Amino acid sequence: MKKTKLKKSFKRLIYIIIVISLFLSIGIYSTIKIKKQKEYENTYEYKLITIGYNETDTKDIINTFKDKELEFLLNNEVNDNYLKLTKEKYFIYDKFYSYLDYLNNKNISLRDVIERVNTNTNNEYYSISYDTDISKNELMLVNKYYHLDENYTPLNLVTIPTTYAWGDYGSQKVTKDTYDAFLKLWNASHDNGFYLMVSSSYRTYQKQQEVYDAYRKSQGEDYADSIAARPGYSEHQTGYSLDIFEKGYVQKDFQNSDSYEWLKNNAHKYGFIERYPMDKEEITGYNFESWHYRYVGVDVATYIYNNNITFDEYYTYFVN
Ligand code: DAL
Ligand code: ZN
Repeated sequence: MKKTKLKKSFKRLIYIIIVISLFLSIGIYSTIKIKKQKEYENTYEYKLITIGYNETDTKDIINTFKDKELEFLLNNEVNDNYLKLTKEKYFIYDKFYSYLDYLNNKNISLRDVIERVNTNTNNEYYSISYDTDISKNELMLVNKYYHLDENYTPLNLVTIPTTYAWGDYGSQKVTKDTYDAFLKLWNASHDNGFYLMVSSSYRTYQKQQEVYDAYRKSQGEDYADSIAARPGYSEHQTGYSLDIFEKGYVQKDFQNSDSYEWLKNNAHKYGFIERYPMDKEEITGYNFESWHYRYVGVDVATYIYNNNITFDEYYTYFVN
């Protein structure tokens, strides 16, 4: 009798323990679940999906952007362009907000936005001005946003013999590496039946002042700015630039010559780029100049030629 009672009490105890354990487990489980849910609700994934990004883009966004930009995305309406911009070939992360500013209210492709911001042409010409980094040598950038000091003179200038150059009383000069590359270019062009002549090369700051002032006085500032650099802003002061013509051609006719056609498609093999190409006027800031070539070395020239970009864009993405 006593034994049965004891057994019953024991059974009840077990029962109670089971029930309590069950409740405890459910309690702990719920607490963990709620905590996990709260934690998830704190993640960028949850927040981005909640404001309307799809799962695939959300994953991509999280892998692409840093915290500051993720917060920016969360504080703004869903916009596919944010992620699309980052997929553009020459996208630079630090310029993200400048891209957005430029894109704002403009009917312009993302590629163009990247190009304009990377080349500073989202700003008025000459409205900002950086010192050219001359330590980059043949890759130094001189344009309407990057200038050389008035006293800058290339160290290793050599004179181009009058066989290949006219004007300036036989004192056309370029840097030694430019000259060596030019000779190779000249010989190759000559093998193809051409006779190239240099009409302008290294110019001092003062000489550029004369060139620019002459255009400005005769045809006004806008015209002068479309074809000549202001002093300090001319690539000719680097000693890496050459104006090249076929013997006997004048400026405006040269673009229709076989010689230009050859130069345009072969100059890169010798390290030169066409610096102010047709259809890139807004980026370079100058009218098309079929005669102006810039020495940058074979690898860079080949990249620029194959990818049809300007040196201005190349510089920002690859050099700076
Ligand atoms: N004509 C080119 C742009 C210069 O003046 O440097
Ligand atoms: Zn030139």
